[in-house]
Amino acid sequence: MSPVDLKRVIRRLDDLPTLPRTVLRITELINNPMTSARDLAKVISDDQVLTAKLLKLVNSSFYGFPQRISTVTGAIVLLGFDAIKSLLLTTSVFDIFSKDKKEKARQEDFWDHSLGCAVGAKVIGNYLRYDRVEELFVSGLLHDIGKIVEMMFVPDDFARVVSMVEADNILMVDAEESLLGYTHAEVGRLLAERWNLPAKLVNIIAHHHQPDLAGIFSQEAIIVQLADILCRAMNIGSGGDNLMPQLNKDGWESLQLDVSAIEPIMIDMEREFDDISLFITHS
Ligand SMILES: [Fe+2]
Ligand SMILES: [Fe+2]
Repeated sequence: MSPVDLKRVIRRLDDLPTLPRTVLRITELINNPMTSARDLAKVISDDQVLTAKLLKLVNSSFYGFPQRISTVTGAIVLLGFDAIKSLLLTTSVFDIFSKDKKEKARQEDFWDHSLGCAVGAKVIGNYLRYDRVEELFVSGLLHDIGKIVEMMFVPDDFARVVSMVEADNILMVDAEESLLGYTHAEVGRLLAERWNLPAKLVNIIAHHHQPDLAGIFSQEAIIVQLADILCRAMNIGSGGDNLMPQLNKDGWESLQLDVSAIEPIMIDMEREFDDISLFITHS
């Protein structure tokens, strides 16, 4: 990104949405090793909407617990802190951005793409026995968040990018680079930094189109890139372009994932996507 273009985006940073106070407070609590399930339950219970969403989701088939869970503390104990954090981030990010009704159809396709990548990254993580799969879920969910920011904050530029993508059948990231001089990955990084998200998440968002540049987080960035490709192959939502990006070859090899795992991964993705999208999108 050239300095002039970067300045243009930064000038708009003050207009970028902030995370709700409750979510920030909860994230802080979760990051503190002294926090108990009861402390966390107290803060969540103060927010009725959040409580209702959490209980609805924890009782959905996505988690498949045999018994009904009727208390916030019960939900926290069963799901664990990390899962609670990703659920809260998920619902609040959807809420923040769903206020813009102008581009409704495009936004819905886009959220389906994001949710599909979130589920995909988590399922791939499970196959690789990665131990922090909830972080992969949030990374998948937010990887293209820069596109939503562009759609809402620089709509004229975004419209030019969309026209070029359609006319030339190219990837959005390439159209952004040639028309604007910056990409949704860079805009996403600015937003993630503004939200004080962990360095891992910031790096994955910033480098999801060039996972080899994500340094110590390149494995996670490759997982998100693979999830993105699988969503396109499965026609889950739309990231705004139709071209299939190329998977980083060295990255694929470093995952040591057997090709035979792809089919069961896609079956799991489809099932989990159907379950979770009932509770999160378009409501
Ligand atoms: Fe992207
Ligand atoms: Fe994407």
